[in-house]
Amino acid sequence: MSEARWTAVDAYIDTALHLSDPALEAALAANRAAGLPGIDVSPAQGKFLHLLARMVSAKRILEIGALGGYSSIWLARALQVGGQLVSLEISPKHAEVARANLARAGLGAIAEVRVGPALESLAALKNEAGAPFDFVFIDADKPNNANYLKAALGMARPGAVIVCDNVVRDGTIADSASRDPNVAGARALFETIANEPRLSGVGLQTVGAKGWDGFAIALVV
Ligand code: SAH
Ligand code: DHB
Ligand code: MG
Repeated sequence: MSEARWTAVDAYIDTALHLSDPALEAALAANRAAGLPGIDVSPAQGKFLHLLARMVSAKRILEIGALGGYSSIWLARALQVGGQLVSLEISPKHAEVARANLARAGLGAIAEVRVGPALESLAALKNEAGAPFDFVFIDADKPNNANYLKAALGMARPGAVIVCDNVVRDGTIADSASRDPNVAGARALFETIANEPRLSGVGLQTVGAKGWDGFAIALVV
C-alpha cells in the first residue's frame, strides 16, 4: 500500500460523502495564500472530530493549535445551540487567518481564537472558572502534549473526550530510543493517559492524505 493509494481513498471518501464545502475550501485557499503550512487535518479527519464532538453533545469545545482554523470550523460546526469553541494559538498571524476563515464560515460569533502560548492561555482559562469543556482537540507543539492533556483534564467534565493529533508520526512513536522531542511528546502523552485513573484512552493509527499518523483518544471517566 502506497501513500498515493491512501490519498486516493481519502479523495474518494471526501467526494462520496460530500465532506468539503465552499467555506472549508475557502479556508484552505486562504491559508495557502497567507503562506501557512498545509498541516491542517484532512477532510475525513475533520469530519471524524466533528462527529466525536457531536457524540458527546459538546457545548464547550477547546482546541489547542488553531493554525488557519480548518479544524476549528469542523469543531465549531459540531457545537450544540448556544455552544462555544475556544481555540488557542501562539501565532498572531495564524490567529488572524483563523478568525477570518471562521467568520467567512459564519462561525465568528461562536468561535474565539486566543493568541498566546497555550500553557499561559490554559492557565488563564482555568482562572476564569467557566463551564467545563465537553471536547478537547490537542494539536499544537508536540513536546507539550502531556502538559496540554493535564491542563485539559482539569477543565473537562466526566464524559468529556480529549483527542490528540499526530501521535504516530510515521511509526516513530514505537522507537523507544528516539531523540526526536515530538516523539518524546507523543510517548509522554500515552504515559499520562496510562497513569491517570480519570482517563481511559487508546491510540489509533491512520493513513491517508496526511501520510501515516494517528490520534490518541481519551475519555474522562
Ligand atoms: N488544528 C489545526 C492545525 C494546527 S498546526 C488544523 O488541523 O487545522 C499547529 C498550530 O499550533 C500552529 O498554528 C502553531 O502556531 C500552533 N502552536 C505551536 N506552538 C504553540 C503554543 N505553544 N501555543 C499555542 N499554539 C501553538
Ligand atoms: C505538524 C503538525 C501537525 O499538527 C500536523 O497535523 C502535521 C504536522 C508539524 O508540525 O510538522
Ligand atoms: Mg495536527
